[in-house]
Amino acid sequence: MTSTSGCPVAHDFDPLAESYLSSPYPELNLLREQAPVHYVPSLDHWLVTRYADIAAILADPATFSAANAQAPLSGLTEEASGILHNGLRNTPVLSNFDPPGHSRVRRLLAPLFSPRRMAQLAPRIEQFTTELVDAFAGRGRVDIVEALTFPLPALTLFRLLGFPDEDSEQLKAWCGEKLEINWGRPDAEYQLRATTNIVRFWDYCEHYVETRKHDLGDDLTSDLLRQRETDPGALDDREVASIVFALSFAGHETTTNLIGNALRHLLSRPQLWAEIGRDPETIAGAVQETLRYDSSVIAWRRVTTREVTIGDTVVPDGARLVLGLGAANHDPAVFAEPEEFEIHRANAKVQLSFGRGIHYCLGQLLARVETEIVLRHLSQRFPDLRLAAGQDVRYPRNISFRGPVSMLVEWSAPVPAH
Ligand code: HEM
Repeated sequence: MTSTSGCPVAHDFDPLAESYLSSPYPELNLLREQAPVHYVPSLDHWLVTRYADIAAILADPATFSAANAQAPLSGLTEEASGILHNGLRNTPVLSNFDPPGHSRVRRLLAPLFSPRRMAQLAPRIEQFTTELVDAFAGRGRVDIVEALTFPLPALTLFRLLGFPDEDSEQLKAWCGEKLEINWGRPDAEYQLRATTNIVRFWDYCEHYVETRKHDLGDDLTSDLLRQRETDPGALDDREVASIVFALSFAGHETTTNLIGNALRHLLSRPQLWAEIGRDPETIAGAVQETLRYDSSVIAWRRVTTREVTIGDTVVPDGARLVLGLGAANHDPAVFAEPEEFEIHRANAKVQLSFGRGIHYCLGQLLARVETEIVLRHLSQRFPDLRLAAGQDVRYPRNISFRGPVSMLVEWSAPVPAH
């Protein structure tokens, strides 16, 4: 195994430490240079940080199973794991499912995320954006996460699934608890409360599918249920509820974080904010570079199905891996001057923030469409939008999902909406 001696970040490296959460790249870069396949005792996982190694892992689902992708990261108390064990009846369907089962589910779900369908959602996203922005446009200063980037992706996704708008707050709270349990290190008291609520969240999804079955509508859940009319291999109730449960989590906070990260980096470079306002054609590149430079999913998990050599490190069978997607996106072997935020970067599109291969993110187009709409809207309407001075932008305490928890922005007079 790789020796970690000589690596200054080796033994006390903790990806849940406040210093790492606020700025993970200095440590990730050091690890990639000095110990690219590194056992992290505080997590009992191996952290892989080189682009080439991660790309090879994502291309080999037989050796690197996705079964642990949604598992609680840290050990749960007996009581909390009992609550999940007894209460959750969901079945693996997507990100934590291996072939051949995964291939079947993916074949049925992928057409519902086609570019045409995503384009159909754009007017609705535009409308939500306008309404949310109108509500604060006259104020001159706002927490943009609270006022826009948090509610918008949730509204969009919950509408896509067909959930009633009035359940949004509750659903978002449950998703936050699921995040802490699966990717953080919560204490025993939190675990008890959160696991109870995760079971409520599952019950909600199961009940929702049961009702939807008798009242099909114009939403993704109904489309999945409708597949039964023509496809003998279509999903059963439990599988549909499991997809609803998975998507309702996967599809909003990730996007909240992408929009927040994009705003942070563009607003701290006023010339770029002016450029995207002047030339909206540059926005797609700015989103792509945000995904590379400051990914909203900096880590994802796999588990080995046999002993295997990664780079030049032998990793045992059953080893749990954290793939440092963010670290890969800063690998100088692939990206020239990786610490520069460069919205015209020619190869930003090879970033790994959405994974790659059979599990490549199904919602990537939706996330991009939403982010592009917000950036276009804000850069046109608030040409002098800026980050409020002196604030300490904080990030959530988990190993994967990264974006500002809150962010104060200011502006003078907005350009009137047309
Ligand atoms: C910036 C936003 C997003 C990021 C960075 C992101 C990232 C990821 C990553 C890293 C994976 C795992 C890839 C792998 O295992 O190889 C994934 C899978 C997935 N994502 Fe996203 N995601 C985002 C937004 C969304 C949205 C908006 C949705 C749904 C509306 C979504 C749905 C999914 C699904 C269903 C999978 C599992 C696909 C499969 O296993 O076949 N994601 N995403």
